[in-house]
Amino acid sequence: MRTHYCGQINEQHIDQTITLCGWAHRRRDHGGVIFIDLRDREGLVQVVYGPDIKDVFATAERVRSEYVLKVTGKVRRRPAGLENPHIATGHIEVDGLTLEILNRAETPPFMLDDETVTEENRLRFRYMDLRRPMMQQNLKLRSKVARYFRHYLDDHGFMEIETPMLTRATPEGARDYLVPSRTHPGDFFALPQSPQLFKQLLMMAGMDRYYQIVRCFRDEDLRADRQPEFTQLDIETSFLDEEQIMNLMEGMIREVFAKVLEIPLHQPFPRMTYAEAMRRYGSDKPDLRISLELVDVADVMQGVEFKVFSGPANDPEGRIAALCVPKGCELTRKEIDDYTAYVAIFGAKGLAYIKINDISKGREGLQSPILKFLPDAAISAILSRTAAKNGDLIFFGADKAKIVNEALGALRVKLGHEKGLLEHGWKPMWVIDFPMFEFDAGEKRWVALHHPFTAPKEADIDRLSTHPGECISRAYDMVLNGTEIGGGSIRIFRTETQQQVFQQLGISAEEAQDKFGFLLEALKYGCPPHGGIAFGLDRLIMLMAGAPSIRDVMAFPKTQSASCLMTHAPSAVGDKQLRELHIRLRQAQKTTENQP
Ligand code: AMO
Ligand code: AMP
Repeated sequence: MRTHYCGQINEQHIDQTITLCGWAHRRRDHGGVIFIDLRDREGLVQVVYGPDIKDVFATAERVRSEYVLKVTGKVRRRPAGLENPHIATGHIEVDGLTLEILNRAETPPFMLDDETVTEENRLRFRYMDLRRPMMQQNLKLRSKVARYFRHYLDDHGFMEIETPMLTRATPEGARDYLVPSRTHPGDFFALPQSPQLFKQLLMMAGMDRYYQIVRCFRDEDLRADRQPEFTQLDIETSFLDEEQIMNLMEGMIREVFAKVLEIPLHQPFPRMTYAEAMRRYGSDKPDLRISLELVDVADVMQGVEFKVFSGPANDPEGRIAALCVPKGCELTRKEIDDYTAYVAIFGAKGLAYIKINDISKGREGLQSPILKFLPDAAISAILSRTAAKNGDLIFFGADKAKIVNEALGALRVKLGHEKGLLEHGWKPMWVIDFPMFEFDAGEKRWVALHHPFTAPKEADIDRLSTHPGECISRAYDMVLNGTEIGGGSIRIFRTETQQQVFQQLGISAEEAQDKFGFLLEALKYGCPPHGGIAFGLDRLIMLMAGAPSIRDVMAFPKTQSASCLMTHAPSAVGDKQLRELHIRLRQAQKTTENQP
C-alpha cells in the first residue's frame, strides 16, 4: 500500500514520489489550496493539493478529521519562511498527486490535540486517545523497554517460561480475582497476584534462570501507580546470592536506561538499609532527589512540659522527628494550615513548627507556637542537629513512630515537589535488610513484610519465634525517584525454615498443607538455593516516560473503580452462564440485558 511512514519523510526524500497511508489530522482550506496533515504512527506530514488536478482537489475537499487516506505525491522543500520547526517533517511537504479516501470517520468525540479532554472520555474512546502522539510514544517506549529487557536476559542465560493464569490463590497480600470452575462445582481458580510459587517451582525443576513478562492481578484499592491488572518483569535464579542478583539486575536496568533513554545511571546504585531509610526519610522508598531529611529529637524532649512531645519522647514506640525546610519562613499561615491538614491524612494530630528568623538573637529570633514549652537545651539541640539557617522553618512530628514516618515522609515529598526542592535526574537505589515481620495491630498478629517465602538472614533463623520483630530478611527493593519499581528476595529453600515462618505467621500446619502443600512437598525433593525479583513494568515505564499515571503507559487500563469504560467490563452475565457455573447471586443483577 505505502512506501513510507508519514513521520519519516525528510529532506533526503526531496523529489521522490512516495505513497503514504494515514489519518487526516487536520485539513485547512486556503481558498484554492488544501493542506492536509497526514498522520500515522511515526508522525505527521503536510500534504498540499492545488486546484490543477480537478478530481483530486474535489476529493481533498471532502476530507474531514480522522478520515483514512492513501496519498501519492512528490516530496519538496517548503518555501522559505514556511518551515515548521516543531515537527520532524517541518522542512518538507508532499505535493499531492493522488488521493484515495480509504474510509470516512464520523466527527471525533474529541480533537486529538484537545488538552482539556477528560480522562473519562479518553478511556471511553481509548482507540481515539491512543492515536495521540503522546500515547503512541508511550506505547513505543514500552515495547522498546520490553525488547531490551529480553535481550539482556537472553544474553545472560535466562529462559522465558509461561506460568498458569488459572491457579490457586497466591499470597501477595491483596485480594484475589476469582474465576468459578464449571467442571468443579463450587470451586474457584484465582488469577495470579504474581507467579511467585511457580517460579520457585521452576527453580526446583532445574530451570536455573527464568523470566517472564507477565500479567498479575490484584484486587486492591487503586492509585495513580496501581492497577488491578498490571505487568511484572518476573525473574528467578538458582545458586546466586542477593549480592549477585542485585548486581545482575542493576546491570539490566542500567543497560535499558542507556539503550532506550541514552541516560547513564551511576554505578553502583547506592544501598540503604530499611532502618536507615525510615530514620532519614520516613519511607522505605525514599526519593533521593529531595535532600530534606528527618532528624530525631526525642531524646531532648523527654522532660519538656508539653505532653504532645513528652509523651512520644518517653514511649519506646514513639518518635519525634524534625524536618528543616530551607527558606520555610516564606510559608504563609494558610500553607502551614494546609500542610497540617495534609499530615492529618496519615493520622498526625498536628504539625508544630519553628520559624528561624534570626538565629543570632537566640530565642527572640525564633517564632513558634511551641517555643514556650522548649528549654534552651532542646532548642539548641534542634538547631544544631538540623543545621537550620536564617529563613528556614522546622516542622515537627510527634507520635507513634509509624505515624511520624508516614506523615513526615509524605510531607517531605510534597514539600520537595511544591517548593522546588527536587533535583533533576535519576536516583535509583536499593533498600535492603527489611524486617521479616511486621506486627499487624488490627489483626493482632505478625505478617510477612515481603511474602512468606522470603528467607531470613542466616543469623536470625533460630530467632524467628523468640524475636520475630528483630529478624531481618534477605529481601531487597529497587527504588527509583521515590517509586518502588521492583522487589525480591532470596527464598527459603529448606522445609524446616519454611514451616517455622508459617508458624510465626499464624499459619497452622494443616492450613499450610492445604494452601501450599505442593510447595512444601517440592522442597523435599532437592530444592536449590534460589532467589529472584519482580519489576513493575508499568511503573518503570511511567517513570521513563515522565507520565503522571500508569494508565498513560497501558493500552487499555481500568478506571479508579476497576472498570473498563470502553467495554463496560465488569458486566452482568446471563442466568444460563451462572447456572453452568453453579452460581446463584445473593442480590439480583443491576441489569438484565444479557439475560437469555
Ligand atoms: P511485589 O508485590 O513487590 O513482589 O511486586 C513487584 C512489583 O510490581 C509492581 N506492582 C504493581 N504495579 C502496578 N499495579 C499494582 N497493583 C502493583 N503491585 C505491585 C511494583 C512492585 O515493586 N512475587 C514478588 C516478587 C519477588 O519476590 O520476586 C512480588 O510480586 O513495582
Ligand atoms: P496544641 O497545643 O494542640 O495547640 O498544639 C501546639 C502545636 O503543636 C500546634 O502547632 C500543633 O499543630 C502542634 N502539634 C500538636 N500535636 C502534634 C503532634 N502529634 N506532632 C507534631 N505537632 C503537633
